[in-house]
Amino acid sequence: MEYQMIAPEHSEQVLEHLRRNFFADEPLNKAAGLCQNGSSCPALEAHCAEAIQHRMSVMAVDAKEKGACKIVGVVLNGILKPGDTAKALSKLDCNDDADFRKIFDLLHRHNLKHNLFEHFDVDCMFDVRILSVDSCYRGQGIANELVKRSVAVARKNGFRLLKADATGIFSQKIFRSHGFEVFSEQPYIKYTDEDGKVILPVEAPHIKLQQLYKAICAGDQDEKKQSL
Ligand code: ACO
Repeated sequence: MEYQMIAPEHSEQVLEHLRRNFFADEPLNKAAGLCQNGSSCPALEAHCAEAIQHRMSVMAVDAKEKGACKIVGVVLNGILKPGDTAKALSKLDCNDDADFRKIFDLLHRHNLKHNLFEHFDVDCMFDVRILSVDSCYRGQGIANELVKRSVAVARKNGFRLLKADATGIFSQKIFRSHGFEVFSEQPYIKYTDEDGKVILPVEAPHIKLQQLYKAICAGDQDEKKQSL
């Protein structure tokens, strides 16, 4: 397995990987019925394409796959600044994908309510936005390696704080194993409409959203030395 930084020219290949492995599989997308495996979702694709432009994302590539390189895992990272989430929330009203709105309304409102910028007094954060591994390659430590490398990218670029909205128990475990801590949580059964109906009926074993953070400690030489 090879790990490489994702450049904007990889966007179409990365999106194709996500259409087959993230858009239908991720717990909130699945609960919302956002799209079928392999189909496109313009709103989510725009969100992913925007992250790629930040040039902080990493992909796992299987070079042995039928003589051609195949993307088998990606972590899409972006830079988050104060005001970005409020702006994204206000733009959400204009989005015509109701399922996308249900997901991002939950994420944006949760982030605004539990504000890491205020708590840590930073002016930017390294935002781990999308973590995805090909369903045929899961359970081999690829997500672990992608998160480890993301922490290294954040360090190399001088970030003091990383954050991730982890939507399922496996991603939550992965982030915690890399030193991320839980800042806030939202049980999915408490995300309801005005009639008390659960908006996203997320399947067990995934029961809550966790907003996780990792403060970069300048003295941690081991992780600092890692490079891609
Ligand atoms: N069942 C039990 N344990 C699991 C499972 C599972 N289905 N998936 C991962 N784990 C555990 C592993 O046992 C491992 O634990 P360990 O470090 O103690 O050995 C740990 O999680 C990491 O496992 P990896 O092999 O590195 O994870 P993998 O490469 O299989 O990818 C991922 C995990 C990314 C969650 C993958 O299943 C996936 O792409 N799912 C769909 C998309 C998704 O839910 N992404 C995360 C959303 S949150 C976000 O994007 C920020």
